[in-house]
Parts: sequence; C-alpha cells; structure tokens
Amino acid sequence: MANTILITLGPTREYIDPVRFISNASSGRMGKALVVEALKQKCNVIVVKGPSDIDISNNKKCKIVDVISAKDMFLAVKKNLKFADIFIGAAAVSDYRPVKIAKNKIKKKDIGFDTINLKLIKNPDIIKYVALHKGKKIVVGFALETKNLLSYAKTKLKEKNLDMIVANGAKTISSKDSAPTLIFKDGKIKKLKLTSKEKVAKEIINESIRIFKTVKTC
Ligand code: C5P
Repeated sequence: MANTILITLGPTREYIDPVRFISNASSGRMGKALVVEALKQKCNVIVVKGPSDIDISNNKKCKIVDVISAKDMFLAVKKNLKFADIFIGAAAVSDYRPVKIAKNKIKKKDIGFDTINLKLIKNPDIIKYVALHKGKKIVVGFALETKNLLSYAKTKLKEKNLDMIVANGAKTISSKDSAPTLIFKDGKIKKLKLTSKEKVAKEIINESIRIFKTVKTC
C-alpha cells in the first residue's frame, strides 16, 4: 500500500490588523520539491500550505489544504494527522502572533508615538505536537539558522523528538539550490553537496521512507 506523507510548507501570517501581518521569509520552494518527489515515488500526499505564490499542481493523489496562520496550520495538521505515515514540517511557522488583532487598520494618529509596542504570544509548536502523538509515524523537521547551525539543529532534533532534521543555512531562503546536512535520531550525519532543491527533496523522501520501513518492521 502507498505511504501517505503529510507536508507543511510556506510561511504563516500572523495578522496585526486587517492589512498588516508578521511572517517569515519562505518561498515554499523546498516544500514544493518534496511534494513533487513524494508523488513521483507513488506516495499519497497531504499538503498544508501557508500563503505563498508557489503553485502545487492538481494531482488526484495530492490533497491541498490552504491556511493562513500558525493556528490554522495546527488545526489542519491535527485533522489530517491520522492519515499520515510520515510528517515533514517544511513550513516556516511564525513562532509568535499578536495577542490581539485590531478590527480596523491601525492609524498612526491613534498611536501618537514614534515607537509602537506589539504584544506577542507563542504559537503552538506543530511539529512538537506531531512528534508527541507520533506512534509509528516518522517525523522530519527543518532547522534554518544564521549561526551554530549544527549544534542548534541537534538540540532541536532532540527537544522536538524528531527522527531526522534537515539543517540549512540562511542562504537557502528563496534560492534554487541548497547544501543541507541531514541529522538522524541515531546520531548519523549526512552532509549533502550544494545541489538543486529537487535533488535534496529526493534524499529527504528516500531517507524518510527508509526510516519508516525500518520502524514498521520493528
Ligand atoms: O523551532 P524552529 O521553528 O526553528 O523549528 C523548525 C522546525 O519546526 C520546522 O520543521 C518547522 O516547520 C517546525 N515548526 C512547527 N511549528 C512551530 C515552529 C516550528 O512545526 N510553531
């Protein structure tokens, strides 16, 4: 039977008022490459997609759920999790959201000061939730850092209880290529040479399916 892979991709948007939001830089390109590769490998795919211009073409083996905020993404993931064998969190989820969303556009004159304080509250950690409820699912995350990449990624792998983490430098944002390091739960490390995101996606999907098969036969 075909494996089902649930993939989050793109950024999330956390609205401040009806026209302003905070977000993360994410093109969704890596996520799209993962979807394309998973379909090539005859998997069923469920995509939970944050707002991005990236186009995921129609395919009857691919269900797309469009979301805006991290809270929406969390709900969509929770709803679809039971169908998944493998979860890949490729979305750049906003860690925080404004405590209050203003009903109308905030006017400069309403604030009256040169500085503005924006009170933020933590968003749910989607992948952490998934890993907590994973059973025999394989959970794969991404880490993008501007310093101490490998040590932060290793900590994240452990703290979020992931099976594999894809560690990327900031140069990968919006670029066509990347040179990530794959770090596995058992301590194994696989450093990839600079290559297209399509080839990186192939490695990630292959490794995810390999781990899934190992766990399934245990
Ligand atoms: O903690 P950080 O955002 O750096 O971790 C990155 C990984 O965690 C990515 O795989 C991302 O999709 C996932 N994540 C998540 N929910 C959050 C924050 C990050 O699923 N609220």
